[in-house]
Amino acid sequence: MSDVRKLEFAPFSAPLKGVLVVFCEEGLKLGRVTAKALFGSGDLLKRAAAADRFTGKNGSSLDIVAPAGLGSIHRLIVLGVGKPGKPGSQDFVKLGGVVLGKIPKAASEATVIAEFAAGVLKPEQVADMALGARLRGYTFDRYKTKRKEGEDAPTKTNVVLAVGSVAAAQKAFVPRGALADGVVIARDLINEPANVLYPEEFARRCGALKKLGVAVEVLDVPAMKKLGMGALLGVGQGSVHDSRTVIMRWNGGKKASAPLAFIGKGVCFDTGGISIKPASGMEDMKGDMAGAAAVVGLMHALAARKARVNVIGAIGIVENMPDGNAQRPGDIVTSMSGQTIEIINTDAEGRLVLADVLWYVAKRHKPKFMIDLATLTGAIIVALGQEHAGLFANDEKLAENLVRAGLASGEKVWRMPLAPEYDKMMDSKFADVKNAGGRYAGAITAAQFVQRFVADKTPWAHLDIAGTTLGSPQTDINKSWSSGFGVMLLERLVADYYER
Ligand code: BES
Ligand code: MN
Ligand code: ZN
Repeated sequence: MSDVRKLEFAPFSAPLKGVLVVFCEEGLKLGRVTAKALFGSGDLLKRAAAADRFTGKNGSSLDIVAPAGLGSIHRLIVLGVGKPGKPGSQDFVKLGGVVLGKIPKAASEATVIAEFAAGVLKPEQVADMALGARLRGYTFDRYKTKRKEGEDAPTKTNVVLAVGSVAAAQKAFVPRGALADGVVIARDLINEPANVLYPEEFARRCGALKKLGVAVEVLDVPAMKKLGMGALLGVGQGSVHDSRTVIMRWNGGKKASAPLAFIGKGVCFDTGGISIKPASGMEDMKGDMAGAAAVVGLMHALAARKARVNVIGAIGIVENMPDGNAQRPGDIVTSMSGQTIEIINTDAEGRLVLADVLWYVAKRHKPKFMIDLATLTGAIIVALGQEHAGLFANDEKLAENLVRAGLASGEKVWRMPLAPEYDKMMDSKFADVKNAGGRYAGAITAAQFVQRFVADKTPWAHLDIAGTTLGSPQTDINKSWSSGFGVMLLERLVADYYER
């Protein structure tokens, strides 16, 4: 865990020291507890607000250093929340991130009064804020051994959320804490360099889920050969690191009910293989396992809060390297489904991994639905940027639920089309299918390829997360290079639509 700061709940009566953060509604309106805490400062807030034209608009803030009359407070931060009248009009996860972002790094103590003018925040709202603050506080600095010149040693800030009921806040935070841990696990895996996190090591780290009661099964190369996973194995054959498939299972639901299945692309490093990528930016391809990382983080979040649902998490983990033994353009491999694939471009490797893992999961586990997550194409970044993940689905209800869960969780998805005309673009001269189409519609033809490996008309959705998970998609709840996209989205999907 890389959080720098400590977070805890305390009653409103706890002593205030260090940085004080309070909320203010439009019209400079404060809640009762807040007004009492600021009582000694007289009309300080009014004067400071006038000087700064601060009225309490949502997203605005006032930062008063050494506030007169508030002895133990070094700094008073007033955050505007506008007119949060309507329920659901304020995103408390985001607000928690904003709050943490306002607290100066040098502060050792900070207290946040969890109250709006309209009243004390509910335990769920407080817990959402704590979740957002934890995610905002995430940093990945385990490989930094030195400080820059003039840089101070990092201070560990103890952040106290002053709340109406500590017990209720703590109780509401239990599932959010599990979710935060899941996101952090995903981010850590993604940020880890490929010389440390190669397939065997990734599989080993999945073993940590056993402590939560998750069954973890690892398929090694001989096991995958026996199953006929020629598409996945072809990708990994140029690497000195053997490939793995990991199947995780959480049984929190009824015994007989079919599991939900989540499948992740886990390319620990994607050089492109023989169709090698240009050097510029290639280091980012250590994150080409972000789909698999999200699946592991999701399994953690669900198991740690004992979700009442049966879930399979399956990840194909490989390294895509150029080598004397690497696969070539023109090679034809046989997938577990029996379909043959002509390799046009060895850099279109993620879909090959997904092909075998999806086929395996549908046949072996007969899930209610399967959702795959993959940093699959650069084309999806061109189409949607870093705001939405691409969503492709063969099932209307599943697509609709994913769009809704995206809006509710803040990890948004945008539906993209599938159609026979696009599918034709993947027909091969020599085999059943080829692994790369032309320049047009790259994200769609990739999805069409993957769809050919969905067995038995299983309801399926594909999330192309290449734009949303890597390259510092900067938000109020993430300042690191990877967001861990997918964990919050799918945890919400399960909680809102599929848990009994
Ligand atoms: N891992 C890449 C896609 C990617 C690009 C992820 C940028 C994150 C950031 C994927 O394996 C890939 O190389 N896709 C190719 C497919 C093409 C060769 C058909 C692409 O998008 O260019
Ligand atoms: Mn590639
Ligand atoms: Zn890739």
